[in-house]
Amino acid sequence: MKAKRIYNFNPGPAALPLTVLEEVQENFLDFRGSGMSITEISHRSRQFDDVVNDAVARTKRLLGLSDNFEVLFIQGGASLQFCMIPMNFLAPGKSADYVDTGTWSTKAIKEAQLQDKSIAVVASSEDKNYSYIPKNISFNDDAAFVHLTSNNTIKGTQWAEFPDTKGVPIICDMSSDIMSRPLEVNRFGMIYAGAQKNIGPAGACLVIIRKDLLDWIPDTVPTMLKYSTFAAKNSMYNTPPCFAVYTVQLMLKWLEETIGGLQEMAAINQEKAQLLYGYMDGSDYYRATAEADSRSPMNVTFRLPSEDLEKQFVEQALASDLGGLKGHRSVGGCRASIYNAITLEAVQALVDFMKAFEKENG
Ligand SMILES: Cc1ncc(COP(=O)(O)O)c(C=O)c1O
Repeated sequence: MKAKRIYNFNPGPAALPLTVLEEVQENFLDFRGSGMSITEISHRSRQFDDVVNDAVARTKRLLGLSDNFEVLFIQGGASLQFCMIPMNFLAPGKSADYVDTGTWSTKAIKEAQLQDKSIAVVASSEDKNYSYIPKNISFNDDAAFVHLTSNNTIKGTQWAEFPDTKGVPIICDMSSDIMSRPLEVNRFGMIYAGAQKNIGPAGACLVIIRKDLLDWIPDTVPTMLKYSTFAAKNSMYNTPPCFAVYTVQLMLKWLEETIGGLQEMAAINQEKAQLLYGYMDGSDYYRATAEADSRSPMNVTFRLPSEDLEKQFVEQALASDLGGLKGHRSVGGCRASIYNAITLEAVQALVDFMKAFEKENG
């Protein structure tokens, strides 16, 4: 029987390409001739070694990473990274700059403050409810790193370009736009992303780290909270989230082999975003909430004329097989998450529905 599939605009966990899911399904009972499922094989097996090594190699190729970087998979989501970053990189005497673009960067700041680390919040867009990305920021020359959130999943904002930090390495939470566009990787000391939005299922956080930063880590950091522990053991000091890493590997293969790389992925993502924002800009009914130059091509946040209509919109959309359009509970409104796996066809179906809804209720 053919599975029912809807257009899934969930913010995370989020849609994966159908071909990736089918590949998981096809190999689920017998993983690469082992007679066991990927959920049953040993993480010390040759088969799983190949999975991790391939995921690392694909990450490096897709992003153009040199051997100066380690690619790691760590459990605990992006939220654990908020805590590990200051723990590993802010030994006494070191300070870091943080930019607060809402929710996730606010949480990252809180985790550093909880540990009594020396940090400066050098810019914030709180004054306008985090609807924009701050400009003209003065960073501290002696900062050990600058922490940014590249894409605010909830407010629908994205750094279109990363700020000039005058050589200070950027540590960036890319949970909701990792692998959605090419990057100038040499500007980053570390990039991290919970996999469950753009590159796989929940359970693994991708951490890309410049090797020299590993030398900053105090010995006193507990073993499982040290990046060096994961780097020394190819992410397998203890049992890794095997199924999640495997699915990430398939997603990276899809990005490389089906899409053709990040340049191509970015062009597709731009086309989808333009279709949706373009339609809303021409409508008096829907209002995109992020300022125009800060709009995220990944999470498109918008309002309708009333909360009642927003509720009806989300319900009727779901009845038309368009799911996940409710805004985050902290902000209300609507949100369409149009990550890498969302097709242009899905965005067109959403725009068609929006037009019909406006006609009926406008
Ligand atoms: C930008 C960003 N950072 C961090 C998180 C938290 O991720 P996790 O649930 O993996 O801890 C999210 C989750 O939605 C997010 O969107």
